[in-house]
Amino acid sequence: MEMVMSHDKIAARLQFWLDRANRLKDDDLYFFNQPIEEICGGARVRLKGREMLMFASYSYLGLIGHPKINAAAKAAIDEFGTGTHGVRLLAGTLTLHTELEETIADFKSTEDAITFSSGYVTNLAAVSTMVMRHDVVICDKLNHASIVDGCLLSGADFVRFKHNDMTDLERCLQKADADAAKLVVVDAVFSMDGDIINLPRVVELCRQYGAYLMVDEAHSVGVLGATGRGIEEHFGLGNVIDLKMGTLSKTIPSVGGYLAGKKDIIHMFRHASRAFIFSAALPPAQAAAAKAAFQVMRDEPERVETLRRNAAQFMGGLKQLGFDTMQTETAIVPVLCRADEKAFEMVRYCQHDDIFVLPVVSPAVPEGLARLRATVIATHTPAEIDRALTVFERAGKRAGII
Ligand SMILES: Cc1ncc(COP(=O)(O)O)c(C=O)c1O
Repeated sequence: MEMVMSHDKIAARLQFWLDRANRLKDDDLYFFNQPIEEICGGARVRLKGREMLMFASYSYLGLIGHPKINAAAKAAIDEFGTGTHGVRLLAGTLTLHTELEETIADFKSTEDAITFSSGYVTNLAAVSTMVMRHDVVICDKLNHASIVDGCLLSGADFVRFKHNDMTDLERCLQKADADAAKLVVVDAVFSMDGDIINLPRVVELCRQYGAYLMVDEAHSVGVLGATGRGIEEHFGLGNVIDLKMGTLSKTIPSVGGYLAGKKDIIHMFRHASRAFIFSAALPPAQAAAAKAAFQVMRDEPERVETLRRNAAQFMGGLKQLGFDTMQTETAIVPVLCRADEKAFEMVRYCQHDDIFVLPVVSPAVPEGLARLRATVIATHTPAEIDRALTVFERAGKRAGII
């Protein structure tokens, strides 16, 4: 009898997700998992047989398809094939992996770095290896889901402070047991809002209360700082973060994640993090592509300035039209629609006019704060941004948002 009931509970859960998607599909408002058929160059992609302007890409510097990066990936396949011989700790490590990790450490001005098979897994590994039961991990309330999952996996006391509120962070640090090991984890740039953590104050507080500091730079590398080195460069700080986490799937057009820091921390990860020990190494093409991308960022620093100009043009234009872009300061530009239905409606109008943008709705963001999560990239031209603004204006008026 009990088994039947638990089976029914899962069946009800399946039905909930089917109903939710089907309701949207019936109203022509389902936009998730649409396959891109072709990258057409610049910021243009082909979907459903139509060429659209991409305003939902994390490829902030427009490096997907860069000829030097593609060439490096192809050469790696010729040299090493398409897979590795297993996990990194045993036979999976290639010279490509050690070269990539040296490149990352150099780019992030740290002693060493380690790579994992995704950014998500990197955050799971980072938090669950740094802290455990009887320790305390303190997070910004809007940290990425992968950090939250890492905290839950770690078994440490999991405490959250109000978003970017330094008084509340201090309260959490004061409340933690003085003898407990403490780790503070924050996003550099918040992935749904585009605002930047108050790093100088976070660093001061971590030092004052003896906490280690980890920062997720998924949306910071290539975006913040004059040369795209990230949040420390943005604030003109030296090497102040204990553990710098980043992905290889956004500005860096590959897949994977990394942690960069002092030698002894990275040494611990190489021997104690389960995601490194029990999961396969990055494939050769992806490791080579990532390494080449860091080199391209060094060789073509002007892309960072172009991205900043594009973000200012897009954000300024939206504000002038009367949209609420929340607290963003970066290339992630939320366009607040409030109700989920309004966000879906906006997307339908925009995609109808060949602007590819996507909605973010609850539970990814709190109810009543649904938005378009538009992103700008360095390969948008000013004319393309103007065209998107014209489409947004028309869509915003039809949906009753402006
Ligand atoms: C802030 C942040 N951290 C981590 C991740 C996970 O990275 P990946 O997609 O490379 O697994 C993401 C990506 O969605 C992110 O936005």
